Amino acid sequence: TAPTRTGAVANWADERLGLGTVMKKNLRKVFPDHWSFMLGEIALWSFVVLLLTGVFLTLWYDPSMAETPYTGSYAPLRGIEMSQGMSSTLHISFDVRGGLLMRQMHHWAAMLFIAAMMVHLLRVYFTGAFRKPRELNWVIGSLLLLLGTLEGFTGYSLPDDLLSGTGIRAADGFVKSIPVVGTYVSFFLFGGEFPGDSIIPRLYIIHVLLIPGILLGLIAAHMLLLVYHKHTQWPGPGRTEENVVGFPMLPVYAAKAGGFFFVVFGVTAIMGGLMTINPIWRYGPYDPTKVTAGSQPDWYMGWPDGALRIMPGIETELFGYTLSWNVLVPIIILPGLMFTILLMLPFIENWITGDKRDHHLLERPRDAPTRTALMVALMTFYGLMWAAGGNDIIAIRFDLSINQITYFLRAAVFIGPVIAFIIARRWCISLQRKDRDDVLHGYETGIIMRSPEGGFSERHAPLPQESVYTLTSREDTKAYAALPATDANGVDAPNGRIDRVRAKLSQAWFAHDTAPPTREELDEAHHHAEHAHELQ
Ligand code: HEM
Ligand code: HEM
Repeated sequence: TAPTRTGAVANWADERLGLGTVMKKNLRKVFPDHWSFMLGEIALWSFVVLLLTGVFLTLWYDPSMAETPYTGSYAPLRGIEMSQGMSSTLHISFDVRGGLLMRQMHHWAAMLFIAAMMVHLLRVYFTGAFRKPRELNWVIGSLLLLLGTLEGFTGYSLPDDLLSGTGIRAADGFVKSIPVVGTYVSFFLFGGEFPGDSIIPRLYIIHVLLIPGILLGLIAAHMLLLVYHKHTQWPGPGRTEENVVGFPMLPVYAAKAGGFFFVVFGVTAIMGGLMTINPIWRYGPYDPTKVTAGSQPDWYMGWPDGALRIMPGIETELFGYTLSWNVLVPIIILPGLMFTILLMLPFIENWITGDKRDHHLLERPRDAPTRTALMVALMTFYGLMWAAGGNDIIAIRFDLSINQITYFLRAAVFIGPVIAFIIARRWCISLQRKDRDDVLHGYETGIIMRSPEGGFSERHAPLPQESVYTLTSREDTKAYAALPATDANGVDAPNGRIDRVRAKLSQAWFAHDTAPPTREELDEAHHHAEHAHELQ
């Protein structure tokens, strides 16, 4: 048959780029479906919104710290001296058509981007999707979170208003607290004494070029690895570690994902159009001698700020240098430690369990109680630190003493996570037992029956076949505890202190893990139920 025009173009391209084979394979690539797989997509699409709106802002934003009197159309600030950075941001807000919408969309999309990343991270963790072979994608993801946060910080510093100047002032203090080299690093960063006139142009290049470039590269790697590994799926009839059940890339998945971009775009547009964010005209220009009461950073910067607020003021003198632990611990050591733990989570779990297998089927959080409880403890720690970041607001709103809030939180950040760990783990185990009961004895229908003797009982109905399949096919985690079990007398105890610690951890990791019902138990329960039925 005669080739069509599009066919000819496709052929031309294929003969030069060899895309045909790659495309043929990947356009049929199958994606499993579950609402929680949408969270990564929200991160992806809000990043695209950030790129689009960010490019718009660069057309008018002027990254200069040169002082000028404001002459734009916002009357209350007219004649006030401010940097070009601030006055051009006011210009975008009041005098560029659609400018305020774009600024607010950009800022709301940044909030959404980081929130979506965090919730996506939690989904990946709680379902065990970070396990082999996806550990590297977890590492890339963690880097994305770190860079996204830095990108947000550099972004909200650009308008050079009183709030963002306060943030940069704090950052200068953090840098100066680094032992020995602190003052030099600060001089280097600011091109002289704070605030100087270089920091805004430098942050600008970092914000519009350096970090977005790295983010783009890492996101591309994240997506390539995703396609290479294929997406994980929930267990169910016909789904195995070897296959993927879902929709093909074309036409279904591409249409869904493409459509979803417009949903995310639309939601940020509505937020940007209706909800004020960062109204810098109310704060005024930056002046190192002023600070706004109730100054709060963007929410994702809140937790180190909270740590800073509740850290006791401890200092050490060493060889004539002062080590300010009250800054070093909350701002440098603690975030560094949290990030390292985050990055290492897949490797920590793997080291403890000794599991060497590939995993493409997801686990429910309740089926891995220790894993789940570990993240709940980390979340509790994060949440309490975050609350500490709003200690002034909490004190004013609830009419409390700021000292008491501080003392309470100093203890709570240590005790809270432990309590949360214990509760979450018990909760998971209870849910496992409930699942087991449901499989063996059916679910409670809510129908109460009265027997001829006058006793009351609730009728149980069997679970749908699919649920029984899913609940009984879950993996028996005990089966891959790779380390030799130690009995009470220490027989077979692994040699070496580290190995013994690991064996202990491994046992604790799986302790109280109720196994799914066996075939025999199921038959027995089934038989019992039929028997009861005959008697009725
Ligand atoms: C400002 C975040 C990417 C250009 C900002 C602001 C935030 C932010 C929070 C302050 C907005 C405000 O005024 O209230 C982010 C994040 C990004 C991102 C999280 C990506 C992950 C980009 C990109 C560009 C860009 C790719 C341009 C190529 C700008 C410009 C400003 C700005 C010019 C200053 C104008 C202004 O503050 O209104 N960014 N941004 N951004 N961003 Fe971004
Ligand atoms: C999967 C995007 C950050 C770890 C995915 C998926 C998308 C995505 C679209 C497939 C759909 C889904 O499972 O939700 C992004 C973007 C990010 C980001 C755009 C930020 C810029 C992160 C972070 C982590 C992470 C912070 C964890 C630390 C993973 C892993 C998978 C994945 C392990 C594979 C999950 C599976 O196959 O079930 N990512 N992600 N990602 N992401 Fe991310």
